[in-house]
Amino acid sequence: RKIIRLPEVDSTNEYAKRIVQDVPEGTVVVAKRQTAGRGRKGRSWTSPEGGLWMSIILKPPRVDPRLVFVGALAVVDTLADFGIESGIKWPNDVWAGGRKISGILTEGKAGEYSILGIGLNVNNAIPEELRENAVSMMQFTGRELPLDAVLERLLFHLEGWYRVFLERPDLLMAKVRERAFILGKAVTVTEGDEKISGMALDILDDGSLLMSIDGQLRRILYGDVSLR
Ligand code: BTN
Repeated sequence: RKIIRLPEVDSTNEYAKRIVQDVPEGTVVVAKRQTAGRGRKGRSWTSPEGGLWMSIILKPPRVDPRLVFVGALAVVDTLADFGIESGIKWPNDVWAGGRKISGILTEGKAGEYSILGIGLNVNNAIPEELRENAVSMMQFTGRELPLDAVLERLLFHLEGWYRVFLERPDLLMAKVRERAFILGKAVTVTEGDEKISGMALDILDDGSLLMSIDGQLRRILYGDVSLR
């Protein structure tokens, strides 16, 4: 497997996009720090040294929004390998102990490539203003973790879940349901300017969230979820 290790980069997703035509599927870009790490909706993603900031280049046969769950499940399994219990906060976060520990950003070009970008707080210090909502692996283990071992576990699980995604997306989604901690809970979903409050009932096979709002069922394709 090809792993490109960089001391510093703007964003591993951006770097991956720049080289995508010249490298095989499965190529991994990992950087010690990012100067312009990005999250969903153009938000910035703080990426100091000590965290795991990586992107993997995939060339799936179809465009499929469920790819994000390959990343989320791989992160949950990696955390479990280090004794940390976590769950998926639909659609693309992993939370542990009530705080965000990882975020996933998928980008791509239809029919050409998909970039699966994963940010995982490992040993990096969480800035004061984020401490209420974000957490690192080190805060659970009480000691620094070897970044290389975390990456190795993550790549192992990514490979496994990617195969499930390709061959049995229904099984992938069954696992996502099992790991999603928002189901059965009262949530507020922000989708654009709209705030939708209700009960999160299910994650459907296409990856969308099924909610009950005042007794009406509604399918949400994408949004930011907060628990009430
Ligand atoms: C989010 O929670 O909104 C997604 C955050 C994704 C961060 C990762 S870090 C590696 C890759 N490179 C980026 O610029 N972003 C992703």
